[in-house]
Amino acid sequence: MQIYKVGGAVRDRLLGKPVTDIDWVVVGATTEEMLAKGFRPVGADFPVFLHPKSGEEYALARTERKSGRGYGGFTFHASTEVTLEEDLIRRDLTINAMAEDDQQNLTDPYDGQRDLEARLLRHVSPAFAEDPLRVLRVARFAARYAGLGFTVAPETLELMRQLSESGELEALTAERSWKEISRALMEDQPQVFIEVLRECGALKVLMPEVDALFGVPQPEAHHPEIDTGVHTLSVLEQAAQHKQSLTVRWACLLHDLGKGLTPEEEWPRHIAHEHKGLKLIKAVNERFKAPKDCQELALLVGEYHTHGHRALELKPSTLLELLQSFDVYRRPQRFEEFIAACEMDARGRKGLEQRSYPQADYLRGAANAARTVAVQPLLEKGFKGPELGEAIKRERLKALKAYKEKA
Ligand code: CTP
Repeated sequence: MQIYKVGGAVRDRLLGKPVTDIDWVVVGATTEEMLAKGFRPVGADFPVFLHPKSGEEYALARTERKSGRGYGGFTFHASTEVTLEEDLIRRDLTINAMAEDDQQNLTDPYDGQRDLEARLLRHVSPAFAEDPLRVLRVARFAARYAGLGFTVAPETLELMRQLSESGELEALTAERSWKEISRALMEDQPQVFIEVLRECGALKVLMPEVDALFGVPQPEAHHPEIDTGVHTLSVLEQAAQHKQSLTVRWACLLHDLGKGLTPEEEWPRHIAHEHKGLKLIKAVNERFKAPKDCQELALLVGEYHTHGHRALELKPSTLLELLQSFDVYRRPQRFEEFIAACEMDARGRKGLEQRSYPQADYLRGAANAARTVAVQPLLEKGFKGPELGEAIKRERLKALKAYKEKA
């Protein structure tokens, strides 16, 4: 058997990027031989094994044929007859279809190196269409390597367009899609992920609620960029530049969905878009089974981001309601993430990227003021049950009034 390093490890070494995990392909071996060498099979009918010591993935060279829809719809053909070239041709991108032996000799039958130099994300062959998840993968790679000047080859974008129109994307499982989406959002230029998905028509299928924001105007006084879709991309860009967490980035992407529901006669105003957007945010959250912290923050940011911007004008009672909604006493980190998302929203506007955001410190100060209220003296006064809750609220309101007067 011959063993080669493949995929991302080869690509990233040639790009001079750090290599995190290594995938291997094994040519000329049978399952029995792999098991005899101590490799552990990953799944019952999947020709992938884990190395007994390193835990790295070793896949038997294989060709793939499609038998139906979705992830379960693959049949694999792995045999000792399958050559390295036959294995590589069914991979997604030319830059991912290079192999290297233990002497660092490169096998590059589909010109991956040429495309690395040309900064092109290009599919290897029509076999690309065997896995519709690749539409998301290409958009993710575009987001990752945009800074290096990579773009999607026009013929690949066309193939992605056909796949998006074919209805295949609907068959992807939530888990596989979320894995790509969450990784893409954590790239340096996550807005490119959304742009590429939009360009090939996949955004309309995967997140029609986000797609609908393009072409929707907002008032120029607050939004010099005018277009809500453009604004959303800028907010995401700001979130990446400020190294925000996945939860914040997810909330940034979804915060304005309600604006897509405004009747055209009301444009460019979007009265109560915060509240109207909640059902859309919920639908997107559930579609991809986003983790609980992402779901929660997206809904809270959707509902309260305007409160964040207007923090300095809020009445103490409204401020208190905001803090209570966030359960800021037990979940301080979540409130910090809310503040971060609001700040990204404020900066994700044309020409306003460097603006200051005094609301952030003001909100932090308000949370601290409310937190200073001690429960013990109220217990000592004999309050308990719901009355205790009311007494704490009254004290917190007092603290917020004092805070506002001083600020
Ligand atoms: N691959 C593919 N189609 C997929 C998934 C993977 O063709 N849907 C192939 C590609 O050759 C890829 C390799 O399998 O390079 C390894 O896949 P994976 O580990 O998911 O990605 P990497 O390319 O290593 O990229 P990353 O750095 O994002 O992990």
